Amino acid sequence: MSTSQIRIFDTTLRDGEQSPGASMTLAEKLRIAETLEQMGVDVIEAGFAIASNGDFDCVHKIALQVKNSIVASLARASLGDINRAAEAVKVAARPRIHTFIATSDLHMKWKLNMDRDAVIAAIDKSVSHARNLIDDIEWSAEDATRTDLDFLCRTVETAINAGATTINLPDTVGYTTPAEYGHMFRTVIERVPNSDKAIFSTHCHNDLGLAVANSLAGIEGGARQVECTINGIGERAGNCAMEEIVMALRTRGDVLPYHTNIVNEDIMRASKLVSTVTGFSVQNNKAIVGANAFAHESGIHQDGMLKNAETYEIMTPESVGVTKTSLVMGKHSGRAAFADKLKELGYELGDNAFQDCFRRFKEIGDRKKNIYDEDIVALVDDGLATSDNAIQLVSLNTYTSSDGKAVSDMTLSINDKENSVVVYGTGPVDAAFNAIKKLVGITPHLQLFQVHAVTQGTDAQAECTVRLEEDGRTVNGQGAHEDTVTAAARAYVSAVNKLMVKREKMSLPAAE
Ligand code: KIV
Ligand code: ZN
Repeated sequence: MSTSQIRIFDTTLRDGEQSPGASMTLAEKLRIAETLEQMGVDVIEAGFAIASNGDFDCVHKIALQVKNSIVASLARASLGDINRAAEAVKVAARPRIHTFIATSDLHMKWKLNMDRDAVIAAIDKSVSHARNLIDDIEWSAEDATRTDLDFLCRTVETAINAGATTINLPDTVGYTTPAEYGHMFRTVIERVPNSDKAIFSTHCHNDLGLAVANSLAGIEGGARQVECTINGIGERAGNCAMEEIVMALRTRGDVLPYHTNIVNEDIMRASKLVSTVTGFSVQNNKAIVGANAFAHESGIHQDGMLKNAETYEIMTPESVGVTKTSLVMGKHSGRAAFADKLKELGYELGDNAFQDCFRRFKEIGDRKKNIYDEDIVALVDDGLATSDNAIQLVSLNTYTSSDGKAVSDMTLSINDKENSVVVYGTGPVDAAFNAIKKLVGITPHLQLFQVHAVTQGTDAQAECTVRLEEDGRTVNGQGAHEDTVTAAARAYVSAVNKLMVKREKMSLPAAE
């Protein structure tokens, strides 16, 4: 590895999933892991194996699937955690255990109830144990930025002596500033005698909106790995956004002479996937991936852009995978053209999923004159969210009136058996959701209902997200359709299917 290479450690599936409401299914995590690997991520933190049997299963399956990237599982400094993490990742082509303990006086006193010597002993024991199981060990000093610098140096030296190959110094609470964070890395790397035996890593939270700036300062201070998430999702205000740090390094190579392995043209696809799966929409003015990130509204800017795009554009939309909205094809387009389009958009579907999407593409073509790339993406995402589900929406007829009353006449197929109801509601979406609840016999709490138009025009497909909660379990469902109420119902049905799977898993005996 050249000294100017920055490893990208993506923690969308672990720290990202810790955002309230961002729960993802195994299939969704596998899709995200596949995308991360394709885009050149060096390390994928797949989860926290000890957290539950479901989390263990996800880390294990990702470890089996991923071939090029390192796959890491998080573990606290306890032997049980570390054994479980090792068990989950040992099947990976390149496994890593990421173990951590808090090092600030505040955390040691109030959270761990341990003194400094006890923490040093715990680091030695946990890292040595992990290193006996797996060769690639990352150790993190939780709350490093509020840790006494002399003590931080002692902890780092201990971790490296015990076998850690990567040292992460997180800004756990998003408190530091760029100058302070850069100084911390410089000091630790200079003072710790064995610091040349490890790669140093940043991990910045965004509570003060400084996560990317702090990560860049960490790199300038000597870090060669950056921990980040797609769209910056994560605990509280989130983590350093991968798309921002990658494009900052790429665009400002003149003052930041570093490079990453990331295929930046894949950024938009990854962003869209993560926002669809989590239901966390990206704000319009978000850097790099926001809908307005490359839009030029004012006359002066537009004039400049027409004369020379560089007047107002520091990077091209194409460089992050934003393509001009293109008219795709009509209802007469054949299977081969559709397959080519899917490939161009980065999808590789199995036979059944392909047939299903092609059928829906034809149906949309019958109803809608213009079909755009975004329509195809929405229908593939919808297909992946709804195919193979035990509960399927068969038909929905809605009757509405301007006084707000609505009636939903719905048929669902539940385990291959069709059932119908006619139900009232306040507005058509409420009526449709009531119909599903009645047919399935559940009353989950609706945490989020979100609608987004996939393209422009009144015949645009609506893409809906529904977040449901039941007994502390949260799921997100997605659905797309030209009829907004049908899209909403499809999203609700997709979420209900996920709830049912979670219920089943909870009622199974715990794995050994
Ligand atoms: O923010 C943090 O400190 C973390 C550690 C577990 C690495 O996420
Ligand atoms: Zn974190």
